[in-house]
Amino acid sequence: MNALSLDTVRLSKDEQSLVILDQTLLPGEVKYLRLSKGEEIWEAIYSLRVRGAPAIGVAAAYGIYLLSAQLDTEDMERFCAHFQKQKEYLDSARPTAVNLSWALRRMEGVLQRHRGTLGVEQMKKRLCQEAHAIREEDVAISRSIGQLGFSLLRPGDGILTHCNAGTLATAKYGTALAPVYIALEHGWKDLRVFCDETRPLLQGARLSAFEMCSAGVDTTLICDNMASYIMGRGEVDLVFVGCDRVAANGDFANKIGTSAVAILARHYGIPFYVCAPSSTIDLSIPSGEKIVIEERAPEEVTALWYARPMAPEGVKVRNPAFDVTHHGLVTGIITERGIAYPPFDRAFQQLGIAETEAEI
Ligand code: MRU
Repeated sequence: MNALSLDTVRLSKDEQSLVILDQTLLPGEVKYLRLSKGEEIWEAIYSLRVRGAPAIGVAAAYGIYLLSAQLDTEDMERFCAHFQKQKEYLDSARPTAVNLSWALRRMEGVLQRHRGTLGVEQMKKRLCQEAHAIREEDVAISRSIGQLGFSLLRPGDGILTHCNAGTLATAKYGTALAPVYIALEHGWKDLRVFCDETRPLLQGARLSAFEMCSAGVDTTLICDNMASYIMGRGEVDLVFVGCDRVAANGDFANKIGTSAVAILARHYGIPFYVCAPSSTIDLSIPSGEKIVIEERAPEEVTALWYARPMAPEGVKVRNPAFDVTHHGLVTGIITERGIAYPPFDRAFQQLGIAETEAEI
């Protein structure tokens, strides 16, 4: 089974539930969950059953459609108030990835534009269409990023990636791993992919390595603290990572440990590329300092994967889920519209990326 054939996130055929692949069970078990209650959808996002910035955005779009459609009313004012309440609730599940609030604001934009002309039933249909559009656009965007990323590759290259920005993190293809899928379509069989394990939640080991192995790619799993050794031996030709939010100056947030990889890549002279749908570029934030970083439970560090706790009881633990990489360490940002090179503020302008993209 190739992971590319798995549906990460979709609406059920009867349009009554959100169907997600439960990523907490991978790689051991492929299991889909049908979710229809607000608490279930919130929990699935919070617990990373569905994760990766674009996939979270798609889940939120279907989620807000489902939750608002469940209200039985013909009164548009009541419908809008209910929509707003559910939107705020879903938006609180995770703070760092811009896609969650971006998708919810895009759905709200539909509500605002059509509330004067559509009845509640028609509005529900229109919201469903918009959620489908967000999912379909995500597939097309990921594919374009893949094609542009592929143009940077040479046969036999070694690519290092951190966390999982593959097909599981999007509606299909992924961002950072999309160039590898495109290379496979071109019959390239000799790319080598190094997956950082990505402590503490192991998205690299459980998800990226699973994806790449299932696609028949030459895959090597390394612990995060091995990257310097592997890079120093000349085994890595370039780094591709995903991102959760890019600031106007090109600073970006991604999974904790990404900035360490960028610093190492600079040290060893290895090109470092960020793969980012333009909706991830948040021009309302001038620099990375303003990005809110999610802090998660200490048990993810001390106990989660171990048979016994692996730290003394009561020790202080920090568990920031993301870090911010300085734009000065970034070779280029691969968007679906083209590759942005420094200075990034000017490049974003040239690619036609405007403030409204992340704002809607
Ligand atoms: O906590 P996660 O697993 O949602 O973090 C995911 C990442 O950091 C990805 O690199 C990012 O969301 C981009 S996914 C295309």
